[in-house]
Amino acid sequence: MEELIKKIEDYRKGIDSFKVNDSDTAESFRIKYLGTKGLMKSVMAEMKNVPAEHKKSFGQIVNELKLFTENKYEELKKVTGYQLPVTGHEFDLTLPGDKLPLGSRHPISLVRNKIVSIFQRLGFAVAEGPEIEDDWHNFTALNIPEDHPARDMQDTFYVSHPTDGPNWMLRTHTSSVQVREMEKGKLPIRIICPGRVYRNETISARAHCFFHQVEGLYIAENVSFADLKQTLYFFVQEMFGDKVKIRFRPSYFPFTEPSAEMDISCLICGGKGCSVCKHTGWVEILGCGMAHPKILENCGIDSNKYSGFAFGMGIERITMLKYQIKDLRLFSENDLRFLKQFTGAV
Ligand code: PHE
Repeated sequence: MEELIKKIEDYRKGIDSFKVNDSDTAESFRIKYLGTKGLMKSVMAEMKNVPAEHKKSFGQIVNELKLFTENKYEELKKVTGYQLPVTGHEFDLTLPGDKLPLGSRHPISLVRNKIVSIFQRLGFAVAEGPEIEDDWHNFTALNIPEDHPARDMQDTFYVSHPTDGPNWMLRTHTSSVQVREMEKGKLPIRIICPGRVYRNETISARAHCFFHQVEGLYIAENVSFADLKQTLYFFVQEMFGDKVKIRFRPSYFPFTEPSAEMDISCLICGGKGCSVCKHTGWVEILGCGMAHPKILENCGIDSNKYSGFAFGMGIERITMLKYQIKDLRLFSENDLRFLKQFTGAV
């Protein structure tokens, strides 16, 4: 025991007289005395050889030595200007971490979510349906005649069905979902149908062979064109702000009567005229109209009792106007430089 105490006394002297030479000193001190293979560890290990009656006093001595060594180390760090050991992989734990790159939502999703939430606030529910449709739901029930150009192979992608011949296609609009909903026979109906649609078009800055729509349908008793206008006014104000002007132009769709197209004042030039609005000051954003009695009857709804309105818009078009994007192809090219500009909700 005495021997041991003498040894510790010598260690203490050695520690006390440790000389500061260069900036590495503090670290070499730490390794020598406080490191995992350092002197303090070996002194502590002596504990097991100390007889039980001396354990307490020896423990105190060792603790004092440890404290002394630690204080010396702190002092050395101050004097030498402490530096982390050079390992070639040094890092500073106190620095804030690197940010992990977060993904961002696709602009089409952002705008679809916004459109959906606007109509949900008006009480519209979301309805979805299949992308591969039969002739009835995509065309016939909607009063689209046999010789209508939309049915042409040039406009529609037909798919072959093993048993049912050529009557299947990739849906050309989400009006097919509206037919499915009307056929269920539960009234009133107040739905919006967001989804992907396909048309056999040459890909260009303004057209693609697939794009996204949100179509809406409201069927109840005594629904009027004024209800349609008011609903769409609300939508445009929520989507583009209340400075935007709106106008309706008479139009034609086989499934609505009367039919209209809705324009908004050009967001790029504020209505003065530019290349985007082809110098008219207006851009078309959707088609709409009162549900044709024939389609109500096709779906088993009494057209003397019920009336309704429908509308349909392209999400790409709304997104292009909202963000002033000039080329539709950007949406499907997956270029991260484009996509990562869209963060957060619209
Ligand atoms: N289905 C039409 C289209 O795809 C849009 C539309 C829907 C027009 C409802 C009027 C009423 O172009």
